[in-house]
Amino acid sequence: MDLHQKITELKKQKNAVILAHYYQVPEIQEVADYVGDSLGLSQKAAETDAEIIVFAGVHFMAETAKILNPNKKVLLPDLMAGCSLADSCPADVFRKLVEAHPGYTVITYVNCSAEVKALSDIICTSSNAEKIVNSVPKDVPIIFAPDKNLGKYIQKKTRRKMLLWDGACIVHEAFSIDKLLKLYKENPGSKIIAHPESESHILETATYVGSTAGMIDYVKKHPSEKFIVATEAGILHKMQQQVPQAVLIPAPAEEDNTCACSECAFMKMNTLQKLYDCLLNESPQIEVSEEIRKKAILPIERMLELSK
Ligand code: 13P
Ligand code: SF4
Repeated sequence: MDLHQKITELKKQKNAVILAHYYQVPEIQEVADYVGDSLGLSQKAAETDAEIIVFAGVHFMAETAKILNPNKKVLLPDLMAGCSLADSCPADVFRKLVEAHPGYTVITYVNCSAEVKALSDIICTSSNAEKIVNSVPKDVPIIFAPDKNLGKYIQKKTRRKMLLWDGACIVHEAFSIDKLLKLYKENPGSKIIAHPESESHILETATYVGSTAGMIDYVKKHPSEKFIVATEAGILHKMQQQVPQAVLIPAPAEEDNTCACSECAFMKMNTLQKLYDCLLNESPQIEVSEEIRKKAILPIERMLELSK
């Protein structure tokens, strides 16, 4: 039996579900029960009746699943699979900012630690951020953390008073505007689509800005066109599978002269072998203290309620 078959067998025996993000390597996406964006993955984690959740993504995603499922085992193939954006917002520093701004509603992007979630009023993802911001009464100021690029983009769309945390994703900040414009010129008729974690000069060139799932849906609606895709290159696997006729070109990163693609080193820490091992050994597991979990679940549930 190959690894894919072994994982499928083991998954049945153990009543486990495999949830994978679009940035995972293709072989993990192929063995997963569900592949999605952060919102879709949280929704699936909230509704699963499996006993074990294997989360093929990064730490904050698996942690969100654990917060929603305290009595289930939540496994992450590599515990070192973190996120630069989540790391840019340490809870003790964030607490001081929140405490210094009474009367502000605290909206945090799901890419943050459980401790930061516990200090928040509502969580959002890239697919519902505008809706979540608009759910706050107009006269109430907002603290938005940790992604300044998503924050700026939503601030522009909603014209709300927002205090932005100065965090960013290393992958989305690496796109080169000069190389992107050159590529666009070389591909007449192509459309640029971008993830809102990208910097504003990249977003301004895009015909569509949205979450990973949103970008796939947009390409599905324009199946015969050519797209320059400004997000992590892992998305190209499902996108191409779902829209075989579309021509997909990864947006170029500043430092990248070889493969012209951007990859999240954290997402790529998970491998099929590690996924198999973690399911077999039921380790490594995600743990969240009950004190933090009880606080962190409230803003996540608010988000899920507002996203129905
Ligand atoms: P999505 O919610 O759009 O899948 O984004 C998650 C992420 O980490 C982007 O870098
Ligand atoms: Fe975090 Fe960026 Fe990787 Fe997404 S792509 S998990 S935001 S480091």
